[in-house]
Amino acid sequence: MTKPGGTGAIGPFPSTITTEEQQTDYDKMRRRLLWTMPSGLYVVGSRAGVQINAMTANWCTQLSFEPKLLGVGIEKSALTHTLITNGAVFTLNIIAREDRAVVRKFTKPVEVDEATKTLNGFGFHTDITGAPILDIAVSYLECELRQSVDCGGHTFFIGEIVNGKFRRDEATEVLRMEDTRMNYGG
Ligand SMILES: Cc1cc2nc3c(=O)[nH]c(=O)nc-3n(C[C@H](O)[C@H](O)[C@H](O)COP(=O)(O)O)c2cc1C
Repeated sequence: MTKPGGTGAIGPFPSTITTEEQQTDYDKMRRRLLWTMPSGLYVVGSRAGVQINAMTANWCTQLSFEPKLLGVGIEKSALTHTLITNGAVFTLNIIAREDRAVVRKFTKPVEVDEATKTLNGFGFHTDITGAPILDIAVSYLECELRQSVDCGGHTFFIGEIVNGKFRRDEATEVLRMEDTRMNYGG
């Protein structure tokens, strides 16, 4: 990891950026550049033993055709990080655009109610990995962990898709970051 400069700006910097002020401006501009990257918005489910969780994430992408790999970038401080590390499974819940309010509910550790099978009040169920699947998900992919790549503040968890299903009409419009006023990255 590149250490922050005296201003807190994170390098490396192009050779033309020399003063602290330039570094700060460059740092801010680079964040805006990163914010322009389009992305989907998902809920990642995880399980380790009896403990389960679900969190909002947008650093999620397919990685290869063969095998079918999916990667998710997860903050080391997140409960999800602990659960994927220990449980070695995760789900990717694809959310309908009309359900955009849902992702706000999964940006803090969730309240699990096993009796009513709800996560923060949202119904869930499980399939082959045991990691939670939101009942409202348009579709979902279930993964078994194949690799964990240390990325500094985050770990990029690479999973192989071992199961997946549509739960709603395939034509349902799905959620993207631009459908919300939120952003994550930069
Ligand atoms: C729009 C949005 C997108 C997010 N994307 C990610 C992400 O891709 N990776 C990540 O680690 N955290 C992401 N977060 C932050 C997590 O949702 C947040 O840290 C959450 O509390 C972690 O949950 P956990 O500690 O229950 O696992 C995002 C937050 C928001 C609001």
